Amino acid sequence: MGLILSSKNVVDYLKQHNIYSQDFQPAFSVTIKESKNFNIVVTSTTHKNFIVKQNRVDRKGQTSGNLLSEWIFQELINTFSNLASIQPLVSETILFDRANSIIVSVFYNEYVALDDYYETHQSYHPKIANRVGMNLAKIHRATYQQLQHREYLGRHCNLDSATRPPGFISNLNSLSPSIFGKICPDGLDFYRLYQRFPSLHQAVIELYDHIQPACLAHNDLTLDNFIIDPQIGLESDVVQIRPEQVKIIDWEFNYWGDPADDLGMLVSQYMAEWLNSLVADPSLDLNTTLSLATCPLEKITPSLRALLRGYLTAFPEILKHRRDFVKRVIQFAGIGIIGRLSYYVEYHYPFNNEEICKLQVAKNLLCHPDKSCSTIFGSTEAELMNHMNPKSLASLKATV
Ligand SMILES: Nc1ncnc2c1ncn2[C@@H]1O[C@H](COP(=O)(O)OP(=O)(O)O)[C@@H](O)[C@H]1O
Ligand SMILES: [Mg+2]
Repeated sequence: MGLILSSKNVVDYLKQHNIYSQDFQPAFSVTIKESKNFNIVVTSTTHKNFIVKQNRVDRKGQTSGNLLSEWIFQELINTFSNLASIQPLVSETILFDRANSIIVSVFYNEYVALDDYYETHQSYHPKIANRVGMNLAKIHRATYQQLQHREYLGRHCNLDSATRPPGFISNLNSLSPSIFGKICPDGLDFYRLYQRFPSLHQAVIELYDHIQPACLAHNDLTLDNFIIDPQIGLESDVVQIRPEQVKIIDWEFNYWGDPADDLGMLVSQYMAEWLNSLVADPSLDLNTTLSLATCPLEKITPSLRALLRGYLTAFPEILKHRRDFVKRVIQFAGIGIIGRLSYYVEYHYPFNNEEICKLQVAKNLLCHPDKSCSTIFGSTEAELMNHMNPKSLASLKATV
């Protein structure tokens, strides 16, 4: 890779690629946004704003190459006219420079990352989660079982990987001695505990035996991969959040996946707002510990319910295609929690009582999804269906 992007050369880079005109000298402001990749935001009072993202370079000068997938996602939208309707729901990418692993997208200056929004407001208005669920569903629905979209993505990525469990699950299922060199003693407790629950192991195997890759999936739905327009007018009961006011960004890991996996990951992200506030005392039982969280589950439940309802309202036919959809979403939420725990262990975070509680919650989601439905959504599956928007229900009945 030749060019290493910096705040000094980024404006010239944009000029060289005709994103800004050569002769124009407006006042630019350049800011670094530290994240997984190296991101630079260029804003101008007179021009459009851009975020320029470059894959980090390892010691050998190599990059992960994942930005190509983000570009393929944009090309998919550009190629298929019936996907134009999803463009306002995602950020628009305008340039990919394969040689230097750089991607340039429009930057929405007034928008903020959803995790920052929640942190600032310290409240979880269900309207937001509802819109999040609807937008995700629209993307899944627009590509669901569309073979031409699948083929298009398949030219650039290995479609078979979607049916295999992610790496952290394979590692948990088949431990090799090399693990002792990589993981600190705390982390080994995680592996020991996981292996002590054969029912959990079985539930995970059963889940991946029934996985159904069927649509474009984001595959990295963390709350910081959503951006939101803070001017959403939550004060008014009448004003609805417009679709384009919540955008899904960072499509680097997209693939042809199971929609329940994407939605389950998102459910686990909302649940993390609760789980990350646990303070576990070894002398307390699990239920007491869970009830003592500083951000109680009851604070998140309305958003979790709104997320699922929003999704099912925008994509009611999924229940016809997948009668077990809600159950699988709940189980994938369990996988989302285990994925996060594996990440902590890999990066040598302490594995304490809080993490043990999280693993128990993940186990409940995976082994008892039906019971867990009321716990996390505050309603049984039947109640959730009864409260679905009558229009969506009617369209579902018409398709059954
Ligand atoms: N188009 C955009 N408009 C506004 N903010 C954005 C945009 N793209 C990214 N961001 C902000 O930058 C952060 C990092 O961007 P992201 O694409 O997720 O990069 P990374 O791959 O490094 O995670 C996001 O969490 C969000 O806060
Ligand atoms: Mg990101």
